[in-house]
Order: sequence, then structure tokens, then C-alpha cells
Amino acid sequence: MPRSVRDILSMKGSKKITVITAYDFTMSQLCDRAGIDVLLVGDSGGMVMLGYENTIPVTMEQMCFFTEAVSRGRQNAMLVADMPFMSYQASRSQAIENAGRLVKAGADAVKLEGGIEMRDTVRAIVDIGIPVMGHIGFQPQTTTLQEGYKIQAKTKDAAISLVESAKALEEAGAFSIALEMVTREVSKMITDALKIPTIGIGSGPDCDGQVLVLHDVLGLYEKIKPKFAKRYLELATDIVKALTAYRTDVTSGKFPSPEHSFSMEKSELERLKKELA
Ligand code: KIV
Repeated sequence: MPRSVRDILSMKGSKKITVITAYDFTMSQLCDRAGIDVLLVGDSGGMVMLGYENTIPVTMEQMCFFTEAVSRGRQNAMLVADMPFMSYQASRSQAIENAGRLVKAGADAVKLEGGIEMRDTVRAIVDIGIPVMGHIGFQPQTTTLQEGYKIQAKTKDAAISLVESAKALEEAGAFSIALEMVTREVSKMITDALKIPTIGIGSGPDCDGQVLVLHDVLGLYEKIKPKFAKRYLELATDIVKALTAYRTDVTSGKFPSPEHSFSMEKSELERLKKELA
């Protein structure tokens, strides 16, 4: 059985929650096998899977497509799917309808960006029975439009407004909140102030859990290398090495060798040759 909202809530204060993004069946299976608690079908998929400059162009259709694939690969992890830009901002009914589409595609919960201004939207989705993860601090869908990548909550006023947003989302029924690129002191304050878990990305060690983009962890995405994203592998280098070896083997005739080929029975081959002759 996949982890439930209750399982995730119960981990606060006792066990760190591990979250990673996933966008396809194979990686979903591997993340699940590694014991990751929550798979996030992030709209970062628009960048690392589809090559967009940012997450703004990502559509509901693409998110549903990724979500279906990830849901087929996981067994134990909870599946949270991102609501893409302009799939929930226009109206509450739009938000409910699109949250429902992601659940039908296989998500257990949805995540949406925004603080106190999203309180009513979060409440509306939670009220119809769909769990919501909030996302505050750096919000890729809109912050990129205004000021680009920047550390959040560096000043007293910014910190207070972030704490207020976190409390408003908790009150609206969010079951957890992602904190992106928030100063570690303020992340700790928010984590201590909430009953629900915080999931940090670039927000220091005191959050209740951590999330990273899979392609950063594996060293697959080379366009942006955030300081906070620990690269456990450099797969891009290894993949290019392997593919170069493959190309060399094909062009030199070394591949395919007999072990990678299929043969006819000798007697059958003789019969064939005779007939053709
Ligand atoms: O889309 C995503 O990958 C995310 C994480 C960065 C939290 O929202």
C-alpha cells in the first residue's frame, strides 16, 4: 500500500521524510525500490524532460501524462503531482477540476505554488477530499517572472510574511508545505510553528523532509546546477561515455558480436542455400 497522508503527517518530529521528483515509469520503479517516501511529479519535468526554459509552458495534459507513467511504477511511495501554471489560478472551480484530473491520472495528492493568497483555493480542493501540499518561498512559476532565482526570506519583513503564509496554508488544510530556497533560520521557524511537515529544497537541514529534482541527484541535467542540489552521480558523463563506446563499436563492426546475434540451425541453413542455388 502506498504511504498515506496520515503516514506522512505521523513522520513529523520522528523520521525525516524523503521526497524526489519522478516523471516516468522506469525511474518511478527505481525511486520506489530505494524506499523514497514521496514521489513528486514536479512541473520541473517541463525543463528536465521536455527542454523548456522554465515551468511556465507546462500543461495539464503533460502533467497527467507524467503522472500516469509514475503511478504505474510506484508501489509504496505516495504520489504528489504538481498543478502547472494557470491550472488553478483562474478560479476555484478550475482548481478543483484540474486537481481531480491529476488524481484520476494516479496522484494521491496535488501541490500548488502560492502563500496566503492561495488559502481559499487550497481549502476548496481539500474540501472535496483531495490532499494538498503547499509550496512557498521561491515559486518557480511566478518568481521567475518577477525577480529570477533568489534566496527567499532574507529580511525580517519577508520572513514574517512567509511564516504567515505557511500558517494560512496549514489552516486551509494543506497536509505539508514545500519550502524552496528559504533561509535556514526561517525554515526552522516555520517548521517549529507548524503541525504539518515542511519539505525543504535549498532550505537547510531543519525541515521535516527534503525534496530534490531527480535529474540533479543523478547528475543528468547540466543546464542549471543549483548550489543546494547534491549530485550523487554524474550520469550525464557516464551516458555520453557509454553512447560513444556504442557508436565506436557499430562503426568499427565490433557490435553486434555473435553473442548478440541469432543463428539458424546449420542443417536448415544448408537446405536454404541449396534451394536458393
Ligand atoms: O517541480 C518541482 O520539481 C518542484 C520541486 C522543486 C519542489 O516543485
